[in-house]
Parts: sequence; structure tokens; C-alpha cells
Amino acid sequence: MNIDKPITIALSKGRIYQQTLPLLAHAGIEALDDPESSRKLILETNHALVKLLIIRATDVPTYVQWGAADIGVAGKDVLLEHGGEGLYEPLDLRIARCRLMVAGREGARLSGERLRVATKYVNAARRHFSAKGQQVEIIKLYGSMELAPLVGLADLIVDLVESGNTLKANGLVPLEHIMEISSRLVVNKAAWKMKHPVVSELLEVLRDAVERQDD
Ligand code: PRP
Repeated sequence: MNIDKPITIALSKGRIYQQTLPLLAHAGIEALDDPESSRKLILETNHALVKLLIIRATDVPTYVQWGAADIGVAGKDVLLEHGGEGLYEPLDLRIARCRLMVAGREGARLSGERLRVATKYVNAARRHFSAKGQQVEIIKLYGSMELAPLVGLADLIVDLVESGNTLKANGLVPLEHIMEISSRLVVNKAAWKMKHPVVSELLEVLRDAVERQDD
């Protein structure tokens, strides 16, 4: 594809990076470095005008919102917590798929008074329980949520579940399904206008790559 304007793409290393690479390759974009070994935060690509920013997953929407990146790849979980201000979310990339779930000890109560829920996903958890009319106290954590019910910090957790192995290893069970999660392409609203031809062409090429990947 013909890229005639600088394009900066923000994404996190690990699973999202690994699964985004083949989609970018479909658009003829290849990174010249590996973020796992180079430790560089700005990766050049085979396109002089295309750069990749390697940042924390939770920071991707912020970089795109403020226009430091034109485009980003972020999990729906991260976008729900960020709120999506200043962003368009035009494409589900259908990568890094998992489920957002309520979990706890077998037989843990899901209702009643003074229910405490530990989670990194405060907004999503609050929305889920308020939709059920259940009052909860939310305890914000930054990781290892599975520990909270084991040491009496919380009755329940809200966390991402992929294989279920982490829950199982800690004697917990999934109790309620909140939503399916996958990574989304997000676009800065100003970039969408100012760089429209190139951004929309890239979007269409990626859409095509996503459809092929699912076939
Ligand atoms: C996620 C999530 C669970 C685990 C679920 O953590 O928070 O702990 O993966 O995966 P599983 O169902 O396949 O066991 P991650 O390793 O991404 O780290 P995090 O705690 O930093 O989110």
C-alpha cells in the first residue's frame, strides 16, 4: 500500500505484538527490530514513514488519545477502563482473545451485603454489578488478583480468563461471564481526519487480514 504520511502505531510487547505482526505484514509493514531483544521503545519498520511505539498495554489508549501515536492496538479490557475519549475504535482485530469473568472460591456468594470485589478492572466490575442491582465494594489491585479471595481481601475477583489455569492453580472457579475480550484497533480522532486516505486504507487492509486469519 502507498504510505505517504508518517504513521505511528502504539502497541504492547508480548502477545499483542506477536499477534499484530502478521496483520501488519499483510499491509507490507515489517518491524526492523524485535522488542523482546532490542529493548528499544521506538521500532523502525521497512517503511521509512511507519514507526512502532512499544509501551505498556494500559498506556496505549493514552498515547493515541493525545496524538503521540496515530493508531494503537489495545485490549477491550484496557479500553473499557480508559473510557475511549479521543479515540475511534473501528476494528476488532480478534487477537489476544479471552473472557472477563467474576471468579472466587467454589460456592462463593454472589449477592448480599458488603460484597467485596478485588480487580484491576474497576469500571467494568462496577458496571457489571450495578447492572445486576448488586452493591459491591471495589478494591483496586494492579495484578495477581487470584490471591485476594485466598487471604480474605475480597469475596470475589473480576479478572481475565484464558485457559482457566491460573484460577485452577489457586483453587478458584469462574462464576459469572462478563464479556468476551479481544484487541481492537484504535485511531486518534484528529489523525482520522488529517491522514484520512492512508489511515482508512490501512484499516481496510487490516480488516481484510483479520477476515483471512479467521478463515
Ligand atoms: C492474566 C490474567 C490471569 C491470567 C489468566 O494475567 O490476569 O491472571 O492471565 O490466564 P489463564 O486463564 O490462561 O490462566 P497476565 O499473565 O496477563 O498478567 P497480569 O496479571 O499482569 O494481567
